[in-house]
Amino acid sequence: MNKKLVAPSLLAADFANLQRDIEMVNNSEADWFHVDVMDGVFVPNISFGMPVIQAIGKHAKKPLDVHLMIVDPDRYIDTFAELGAYNLTVHYEACTHLHRTLQAIRAKGMKAGVALNPHTPVSLLEDVINDIDLVILMSVNPGFGGQKFIDNTYRKISQLKEMIVTHDASTLIEIDGGVNAGNARDLIDAGADVLVAGNFVFSSENQPQTIADLKAVIS
Ligand code: DX5
Ligand code: ZN
Repeated sequence: MNKKLVAPSLLAADFANLQRDIEMVNNSEADWFHVDVMDGVFVPNISFGMPVIQAIGKHAKKPLDVHLMIVDPDRYIDTFAELGAYNLTVHYEACTHLHRTLQAIRAKGMKAGVALNPHTPVSLLEDVINDIDLVILMSVNPGFGGQKFIDNTYRKISQLKEMIVTHDASTLIEIDGGVNAGNARDLIDAGADVLVAGNFVFSSENQPQTIADLKAVIS
């Protein structure tokens, strides 16, 4: 069985103490930094942009898992490669020529990810599944941290897992939104590989311990 990963979402970090929170993740059992980029158009919120991501990259010692919640993401593929993104995930709903976008991301040396909103069926990925390194299944509507987990996600994980196996793909399944120690094990059992956790980690009293607990629950 492959190793299951935890990616704390910096959206829930204390932006006035970003370096401190990055060091906490560096020194924890976490695997990736989840970096949420919102443009106020694709989602009704604006998070942070390139200068902040550059600053994050200066201190982060683990891969940057960049989740773009922006329209027309093709405009910024080169920029995110320069910023050192390891995974670059675009939203299915924001891409007119998804296959082309995925090739462009891989051509820049990054892992190509596709995120699906809660209402977007997994079946729409069938013809590109072998071109995708990572699928983010949104288990909340994108735009904000701290929302309630949508239960239909379990069904989508099973459907996606079946598609990946059928097509002999090596795509990872990442779950984003409302993840906590209460649902983590069930998500992994359903077929997930990576769990994003924002508020569950950063609102907790002992953050590295919360990450360690999450890792223990899923391994
Ligand atoms: C939501 C973001 C998530 C968010 C998760 O639009 O994509 O990554 O930070 O936060 P929690 O874990 O608090 O739901
Ligand atoms: Zn995210």
